[in-house]
Amino acid sequence: MENRLVVPGPASTDLAERVAEGLDAELVGVECRIFPDGESKITLKEKVGNKQVILVQSTYPPVDQHLMQAFLLAHRLSEEGAEVHMVVPYLAYSRQDKEFLGGEIVSMRVIARLFRSVGVRRFVTVDIHSVEGLSNFSIPAYSVSAVPLLAEYVREVVKPVNPVAVSPDFGGSSRVEAFSKILGIEHFILEKSRDRVTGEVSIKNAEMNIEGRDAVIVDDIISTGGSVQRAAAQLKASGARRVIAACTHPVLIGDAVKKMSEAGVDEVIGTNTIPGSVSKVDVSQAISEHFKTLG
Ligand code: R5P
Repeated sequence: MENRLVVPGPASTDLAERVAEGLDAELVGVECRIFPDGESKITLKEKVGNKQVILVQSTYPPVDQHLMQAFLLAHRLSEEGAEVHMVVPYLAYSRQDKEFLGGEIVSMRVIARLFRSVGVRRFVTVDIHSVEGLSNFSIPAYSVSAVPLLAEYVREVVKPVNPVAVSPDFGGSSRVEAFSKILGIEHFILEKSRDRVTGEVSIKNAEMNIEGRDAVIVDDIISTGGSVQRAAAQLKASGARRVIAACTHPVLIGDAVKKMSEAGVDEVIGTNTIPGSVSKVDVSQAISEHFKTLG
């Protein structure tokens, strides 16, 4: 599409450049200054007019600052008359997509409304925590999958021996099924439960035939590393040779990597929905392909 532009949000400059390259689209200049009180001042370096604009801004920590930057940019672009397609590679608040305990605010619904109210016409994310979360949007909303890219990376670079794929919980069933299908390997689903009040994670013991095999834990998000830590301990106890943790969104709060490594994780692999040292898989292709199908 000739009139398509890509706007890089301050949290996703590198990924936005790659998306623009994949789409052969022009990049718009954006300048961002953070004031001492944490407020962002954003300047668009050129007028975009009424073109179709793909705005790319991930919302990893500092979550609320990155969200606000997305709202500021989307609002400005829509005021100029642009058709704003919002790409949020890592969508913060997506885990609170229901009222699990009485009185909890469904944050995902609020975020979805805010994107619409700042003029976003179409919304795209990568591996949303649960596809049900998309139903909170009243504009067209999509989740593209990074699982094939992660699987390809594991096959080509990690080259696991007699591998088995493992999901730490039932919520990740379709993800681990897709992953293991691509690699043609067996998979297991562990039974994780999280105390809804304290956040404490526990994983039930499971019978697994993994003696001497490489285990690849597949998850959407690694945040504190607690889920992977518990899963890895169990895989090691069951005789796994190597444990690899592969996720789409490596949030990696505090000492998450150390914690996982102490539990026996040999390697952590993430994608560049969140830039960082473990972000080895580039998701720009999955995002560009999504837009190419629109023509
Ligand atoms: C939860 O159900 C998600 O799929 C992840 O397993 C979870 O968010 C990981 O969080 P943490 O690393 O803090 O255990």
